Amino acid sequence: MARRGINMPFLRAALSFPVLLLLLLPPGTEASGGTWCYATQDATCGPAHWKVLDHQCGGANQSPINVDRKTARRNMQVNLGSDISVSGAGLPAVYNALQFHFHWGKPNGNGSEHQLDGNQYPMEIHIVHMHSKYTDIKDAATDPNGLAVLGFFYKVSDTDNTNYNTIIDGLQSVSYSGDSVDLASTFRLDSLLPSENLLSRYYRYRGSLTTPGCAEAVIWTVFEDPIPISSSQLSAFVNSVHFSASGQTEVKMQDNFRPVQALNRRRIYASKQASMSSGAIPALSIVLLLFPLLAIRLL
Ligand SMILES: *[C@@H]1O[C@H](CO)[C@@H](O)[C@H](O)[C@H]1NC(C)=O
Ligand SMILES: [Zn+2]
Repeated sequence: MARRGINMPFLRAALSFPVLLLLLLPPGTEASGGTWCYATQDATCGPAHWKVLDHQCGGANQSPINVDRKTARRNMQVNLGSDISVSGAGLPAVYNALQFHFHWGKPNGNGSEHQLDGNQYPMEIHIVHMHSKYTDIKDAATDPNGLAVLGFFYKVSDTDNTNYNTIIDGLQSVSYSGDSVDLASTFRLDSLLPSENLLSRYYRYRGSLTTPGCAEAVIWTVFEDPIPISSSQLSAFVNSVHFSASGQTEVKMQDNFRPVQALNRRRIYASKQASMSSGAIPALSIVLLLFPLLAIRLL
């Protein structure tokens, strides 16, 4: 039997920290009809079946994708303000951070959703923002500019990234579906991210939520530089969280990522500072119209 689609731990960034760490439905789920899952939960409702549950998952502009730098175009409009605490700019409006969550793999495996030149990473964080004119994610999900999600990869480093201690300690308390915990200490979201000078290197494209209903309402920004965490920190995510509720048969939350989707007719833009392959084509000036300057505001 298919299990409920209760899949991703995420941190709900309220107006102010401290935040609540909980296992809940990811964004967009409530808008979709069917029961969905990852194949590690139940092969009959995994990503290959999502388009049956929600036709939008079979759309032409789905996420994640492989960011192939050979085909990326340089976006001349690179607008990282000095006041940014977290994120890139060049988005068509102000976006407020709603929540962030993680995708990962199996022990010693990869689990990022996006790929860079065909390379998958061990883990990926998504920081979900909503256009400031909306108060309900269901409304934002009907607008191609409704959501902006920032994605960062992780890489395994030799030393712990101590900025993750609060979250990783919190994982102990949210082992099972439905669990939640208030994180005792406050922290800044930007402390989880690469240093500010690396935040100007990113790729941008139009895509979707990566869980059903897969709404094609997301301006994606995928950053080039991975965030370092140690292998024991990575394994805290991979090994201590479960899809299942407490008391049910234990199913570890692993491989909670959607495979890459076809790019189709879409274009990927690289920020001015992002690395590109030598085969890359410079951006056309029309890009400037598509990406006017505005900053993301974080709550
Ligand atoms: C993870 O992806 C990298 C490429 O980024 C690859 O070299 C490595 O073999 C992959 N690891 C596994 C376990 O698949
Ligand atoms: Zn995600």
